[in-house]
Amino acid sequence: MSARTAGTPDLPHAPWWLDGVVYQVYVRSFADSDGDGVGDLAGITARLPYLRDLGVDALWITPFYASPQNDHGYDVSDYFDVDPLFGQLADADALFEAAHQLGLRVIVDLVPNHTSWDHPWFREALAAGPGSSARERYLFRPGRVGADGVEGPPNNWVSRFQGPAWTRVPASLDEPGEWYLHLFDTSQPDLNWHHPDVPAMFDEVLRFWLDRGADGIRIDVAHGLFKAPGLPDQTLQPGESADPGESLITQRPSHTPMWNQPEVHEVYRHWHRLLASYPGERMAIAEAWVRDPADIADFVRPDELQQAFNFHWLAAPWSAPSFQAVIEQTLSVVPAPTWVLGNHDVVRPVTRYGGGALGLSRWKAALLTMLALPGSAYIHQGEELGLPQVDVPPELRQDPRAGVPGRGGRDGCRVPLPWAGTEAPYGFGPGPGQPWLPQPASWAELSVEAQTGTPDSTLEFVRRTLALRRRLLADGTLSGPAKVFATDTELVIRRGTLVCHLNTGDAPLTLEARGQLVNGAEVLACTGDRPGDPNTATWLRRT
Ligand code: NOJ
Repeated sequence: MSARTAGTPDLPHAPWWLDGVVYQVYVRSFADSDGDGVGDLAGITARLPYLRDLGVDALWITPFYASPQNDHGYDVSDYFDVDPLFGQLADADALFEAAHQLGLRVIVDLVPNHTSWDHPWFREALAAGPGSSARERYLFRPGRVGADGVEGPPNNWVSRFQGPAWTRVPASLDEPGEWYLHLFDTSQPDLNWHHPDVPAMFDEVLRFWLDRGADGIRIDVAHGLFKAPGLPDQTLQPGESADPGESLITQRPSHTPMWNQPEVHEVYRHWHRLLASYPGERMAIAEAWVRDPADIADFVRPDELQQAFNFHWLAAPWSAPSFQAVIEQTLSVVPAPTWVLGNHDVVRPVTRYGGGALGLSRWKAALLTMLALPGSAYIHQGEELGLPQVDVPPELRQDPRAGVPGRGGRDGCRVPLPWAGTEAPYGFGPGPGQPWLPQPASWAELSVEAQTGTPDSTLEFVRRTLALRRRLLADGTLSGPAKVFATDTELVIRRGTLVCHLNTGDAPLTLEARGQLVNGAEVLACTGDRPGDPNTATWLRRT
């Protein structure tokens, strides 16, 4: 094993993903080439130069496979084809090729925990009836009769979206109807990973996309594939709720027979070997909402996955001690982790951090902070424009979670990007047609066009920062492990000759700036007007 990090394979040089910056493309909302109001693959290809100029190393594209779109592509009915909404296989090939020509890598999204209920396997299972081998590819079970004599679901698990994690097969298809498990929407039946057809199909899926040129895979619900034997009830500790609602990672129940079972790691060791059989440092990243940061380390191992999303960082409140705790916990288990502040499932960070100028200032500071740390960074599309969460009118919401009382759903972070112009669709599509979710009038000034060339815009800040980080990695300023210190309001990261100061408090830090120097150290970057201002971060180079 390399001395570099525990999670790094034995390569003569650092692989690209180790400190790479990856841009998340939410395909429906990035760029629309044909004017139907929905983003597509050709739209992405046309905008690849924008991503190269932004300074990212790779893009991760959310699922674009054939799907009834009940969960916007995370309900796949054919893993080997492109949904007509997004284009054709030839468009995927063209995208991979164009990206590679620009020096960008492409990570595709793999959805192995569940299929769509439109997948041929599930249709076959419904038609074949109870006891059939076709049903064994999923998790069908008889119901459980309660004390009241009424039959209910087989166990007490709840869906991540709404209500019980079980749906009864309609009586028209079998009588009495069995129930099938779906940890997400009722249209997303969970697969049975103990059935040999399931791993065999995903081997083919992986090869299919790797053969076409994918550089990596993002594994959806990576901690979900296997369930505890016997599918036992979930037991809850006092104060815990089986349905943590919109809350992020910390309030998840401690006992989760549906998540994080040990068998999953054998699958990923196998996928590791499969990826390694291809040239060019192919990689995989787990989407695993595990409660304990230490559990992340089980996924990120030299013989397993290269990365896992660090949702503890995303979920940390705006406080120097909280950030320090997450950074230290993370670095102690995964020396080269990922840092992520947003994605298509969570409230946009500008809004999470307080909204308006305050939220934007904090987001820029958090970004600069995470870019000082060892590891790789993931940026959700639109973060570079400073986009806030949108309050989509209830009647226009499309997320399957949006109908759950008390939850707004995830539409607000998925509103299509503003590219140019003064009114919607802001160049999202070729004509005046409106996108699938409405864009706010205030987005004219946030468009790529409006921000380009404006030195104090969020976009130019991100471009400058990514270019600077690239230079500092190359010249050795940013190298080696990080040391992290915190007071109640200040987080300090020392790495190589770089020192990052993050001020999470209300009073300025005593970083006395004299021209380009602070106490003899060169000011490399500062997200505020002056080094040390509240809600800003500063990069200094020690001489
Ligand atoms: C995680 C994805 O990010 C989310 O959008 C999706 O709804 C669930 N997995 C289910 O596939």
